[in-house]
Amino acid sequence: VIKTDLSKSKIDEVVSIQQLWPQLLKDHDNPINTTIGVMIDENGVVIRPQTIKTSIAETIDNIQASGSLGYPTFRGNTDFLKYSAEWIFGEHDVSWPQSQAIGGTGSLYLASKLLSRVVEAKHILIDSGWDNHKALFSDFIQHEYNRICDGAVGYDHEIYMQELAKLPKDSIVLIQAFGYNGDGFDRSPQELEEVLGVCLKNGHCIVLDAAYLGLASGFSADKEKIQQIIDKGCPTFICLSFSKNMGLYQERLGALFIRNIDSSYADTWQAQIEKISRATYSFVPKLVAESVGRVLSDNNKRLSLEDEIESMRLRLVTNREYLSENLAGIIPNIHKTSGLFIRLKPEGFSKKQTEQLFSQGILALSNSRINLGGIKNSDIARFSNIMKDVLSK
Ligand SMILES: Cc1ncc(COP(=O)(O)O)c(C=O)c1O
Repeated sequence: VIKTDLSKSKIDEVVSIQQLWPQLLKDHDNPINTTIGVMIDENGVVIRPQTIKTSIAETIDNIQASGSLGYPTFRGNTDFLKYSAEWIFGEHDVSWPQSQAIGGTGSLYLASKLLSRVVEAKHILIDSGWDNHKALFSDFIQHEYNRICDGAVGYDHEIYMQELAKLPKDSIVLIQAFGYNGDGFDRSPQELEEVLGVCLKNGHCIVLDAAYLGLASGFSADKEKIQQIIDKGCPTFICLSFSKNMGLYQERLGALFIRNIDSSYADTWQAQIEKISRATYSFVPKLVAESVGRVLSDNNKRLSLEDEIESMRLRLVTNREYLSENLAGIIPNIHKTSGLFIRLKPEGFSKKQTEQLFSQGILALSNSRINLGGIKNSDIARFSNIMKDVLSK
């Protein structure tokens, strides 16, 4: 009989708190869930761009009619890889290791497992803020840095650079380049350049977690950050998620692209990625990848998708601007954030504050990280008033 008691094992609050949501839905007409990173519209429906919806519908018919119903290739849908690489990097070079992945999480998983086989220094500096990074890179000795500086939430470049300088040579540096998950404060291109300079000098490998492409500062600006990182020349693992920007939370679509490694290793690394995925989930889903590939392969559809992603981003901007005007006295610098998240209190909410928010129909994490994408534009004034009230007590 197994007698292991797991009651003391740490669990992720983002997961456990969702159990409270059905209660809020029952007790309130219009509750607000600020805890998990989804984007909703004014009807409270999770947003999926129409271009993607249409393509999925067409692709179902196409796949069934085509008769190509067997297993895909081990790396996933090759058209999806081709067209997403062209979309994001402006080129598709099949000689670099690459794979479709089970969401952004899946791409980080592949990166982590491959890195644990190919790097000797098992150290990683994490851009903390998304707890799952710690679980995904559990094979490594993890270094973090303080995001609470001088009593405020945010990114302090000096503190980060000090931590980076302590990292042993040939380590891994995990970077969230845009739409920082924990608090929304991103590095400027100049700050990023300084980080990359140290990484290059010390032989570090970059894992770029790109979960919010297009939703932080717009598609072109976000893409430029990816390019800036690749251009610097460090070995780079680009981990993409299409959950948020394409509304594909349930379908699990992501991709891993590797750049700047010794080209003579590329084939063997590719083989190892395929071995890891085969032993983990065997194959990736075809329908969603083919649907996205079709959109990205067609100039007009791709432009429509980009427009739709931009309107999603503008919803976030509307909420951010309102809060930055109306909560400025309580939380400075909200206007400097981008992406889905902000964090309100360095010390987090007190238990009493989360209870007060809950009693008014707001589900919030204890660390006070708020998903702006989960608040309707028509609810932001109500949200702001409740927050002002609760935080001033
Ligand atoms: C920073 C960050 N990286 C990666 C992911 C993973 O994305 P996915 O849902 O596609 O697995 C998320 C999702 O919330 C995230 O916030």
